[in-house]
Amino acid sequence: MKIAFFGSKRYDQRFFDEANSKHNFEIHYFESHLNEQTAPLAQGHDVVCAFVNDTLSSSVLKSLSENGIKHVAMRCAGYNNIDLDVASSLEILVSRVPAYSPHAVAEHTIALLLALNRKVHRAYNRVREGNFALDGLLGFDLYGLTAGVIGTGKIGVNVARILKGFGCNVIVSDPYPNAECEAMGVKNVDLNELFQASDIVTLHCPLTKDSHHLIDAAALSQMKDGVTLLNTSRGALIDTQAVVNGLKSGKVGYLGLDVYEEEGDLFFEDHSGKVIQDDLFARLNTFPNVLITGHQAFFTREALQNIAHTTLGNIAEFEEKGKCNNSV
Ligand code: NAI
Repeated sequence: MKIAFFGSKRYDQRFFDEANSKHNFEIHYFESHLNEQTAPLAQGHDVVCAFVNDTLSSSVLKSLSENGIKHVAMRCAGYNNIDLDVASSLEILVSRVPAYSPHAVAEHTIALLLALNRKVHRAYNRVREGNFALDGLLGFDLYGLTAGVIGTGKIGVNVARILKGFGCNVIVSDPYPNAECEAMGVKNVDLNELFQASDIVTLHCPLTKDSHHLIDAAALSQMKDGVTLLNTSRGALIDTQAVVNGLKSGKVGYLGLDVYEEEGDLFFEDHSGKVIQDDLFARLNTFPNVLITGHQAFFTREALQNIAHTTLGNIAEFEEKGKCNNSV
């Protein structure tokens, strides 16, 4: 199997080369993202390996198909960036890594929450500058607060468990109630009830047509003043302009993001020497009560090992059986 690996970083190569010692696939690492311009690089390969910010639109998939690609192996869980109908009509199998470390993402979500509520991001800078004043660093206890978890799949259930450990009153909302949450005594409520009751709202559902801009002006208007909002799922679950308005009015007290609607032009690359052209993102970065990380919630050693192992396992299974358990 010859694999065209798009959007490759040094850390990808390290973990995939390690995992590939078992398979001996021929992997060609391309630093460029997959898009209409780069799709022809796949010529002469059997499989394309892609990630969250690669483009797998109808035209890209057609180009891949013309170049002989039969399998798109996503090295991530989400697959909202793929036109699945077109992939299926072209008989391109799409596989993914359904779970590589739900703990990594859940723990990062809590890292954002704890940094925000105790203002660790501001305290860090102050202390390094010799400023030990506490004004402006007043936090709040998590104990006793109501935390609303939207989506109780593999990640959401871990977040719910950790928040329970802090002594939060945890409520969840998912069309499919989760047995583990029920066993913890966590109530599954409808979204409106969750919006109205929660001091903290954290998003752990996939991005679909239905969940696009789940958090918009109407949702925010139902929430408590000063609500803490966390999103480590997908950027477009949140209407960013509505949240910026909410931050300006005080409706949103704290915002922790690992994902952003338009992150494709920004994240995973070093733009430190350039002028950021995205005014909405630039505005977000001006608020003292906003903490943004660049889609790193998954980024632990354990997760990268699992990603490499499962992705190459998916490719081996496809080679052997022409199908794959982790197909979507
Ligand atoms: P999962 O598939 O195990 O769980 C998703 C849950 O969301 C399911 O229980 C589903 O019923 C529920 N759901 C679907 N639509 C909903 C809606 N409109 N309202 C409420 N619940 C809804 O997925 P998992 O592994 O827990 O991941 C969740 C999301 O986290 C992924 O879709 C992905 O977008 C994101 N993610 C982010 C990462 C990062 O590095 N920031 C890494 C991995 C995943």
